[in-house]
Amino acid sequence: MLTTLNIPMPDDWHLHLRSGEMLNKVLPYTCQHFARAIIMPNLPSPVITTADAKKYRTEILENRPDNHDFTPLMTLYMTENTDPEDVRSGFLKGEVTAVKLYPAGATTNSDAGVKDLEKIYPVLEVMEQIGMPFLVHGEVVDKDVDIFDREAVFIDTKLIPIRQRFPNLKIVFEHLTTKDGVDYVLSSHKNTTATITPHHLVINRNAMLVGGIKPHYYCLPVAKRELHRLALVQAATSGDPRFFLGTDSAPHLTTAKESACGCAGIFNVANAISVIAQVFENEHALPQLEKFLSLNGAGFYGLEVNKKQIELERSKQCLTIPKNIVLAEGEVTAFDPMMDVYWKVKG
Ligand code: DOR
Ligand code: ZN
Repeated sequence: MLTTLNIPMPDDWHLHLRSGEMLNKVLPYTCQHFARAIIMPNLPSPVITTADAKKYRTEILENRPDNHDFTPLMTLYMTENTDPEDVRSGFLKGEVTAVKLYPAGATTNSDAGVKDLEKIYPVLEVMEQIGMPFLVHGEVVDKDVDIFDREAVFIDTKLIPIRQRFPNLKIVFEHLTTKDGVDYVLSSHKNTTATITPHHLVINRNAMLVGGIKPHYYCLPVAKRELHRLALVQAATSGDPRFFLGTDSAPHLTTAKESACGCAGIFNVANAISVIAQVFENEHALPQLEKFLSLNGAGFYGLEVNKKQIELERSKQCLTIPKNIVLAEGEVTAFDPMMDVYWKVKG
């Protein structure tokens, strides 16, 4: 049995870092294990222009622990008024890496998101031309669509038409949660890829709803039934270059989640690599682990694979998962995968 594993340092292709004290407290967890991350732009005042992204990047770098060289890759929050020329110049200067679509009302801080997709076609045209990735929160927000069907309906009514209109656009279908999503990515072409989170590889909707309502398993898109989780595990462990890790680690104060109207989001970066390694071991797929964590995403984004390596070690004892992190204004509950995890990152 494999007990140690050396792989290139992983990247996180979907991460929420927030700002202020929260940023300061969560960033060290990412810096420990990841070389780069795609930084989500859904701050309360969203990162809409290249100037906003530069300012946010500076704040991130000011909070980066001294002994790390973690690189934040900045994204812009797509609005119906996004200026294609700002997007073009930000990308060509290397100041922004991608643009994120939040359908208006889909999730945390998405009110400024897009209602009418046709309004963003001029931006998508430029992005297709310059090879800039379009990151998609793939859920419809129609009140008549059941929340468990939001992703599948998005594929049929939004994604397929966008793909037809912009055949060469680089698309990342973020935080995939369904077999429908996996099947769509597999049926599309190399420019359609997807991130998968650690939590969607581990939990199904029972984690959230059985035996009482469990707000720390609530995120968006919500976890679906078991057959969907199995399809995600199959996709992630297959080694297919179109699937890569995006933790979607999304910290909220515990009090904001344990509420009559709790926030969506799971803080998982403290143990993400360990949990994923365990999932791969359970599937007898450890040889594919570096593809999912370290190779596939870099390939799609056209970046070099990280030269630094990390060493994973399988302990005899089950790992103790940290329960929370403490901030001045409260605590953030860490993801409990509810399974035995033996892999840890050394150092
Ligand atoms: O669960 C989620 N939390 N899903 C998202 O799309 C946003 C995120 C957040 O920012 O809290
Ligand atoms: Zn997210």
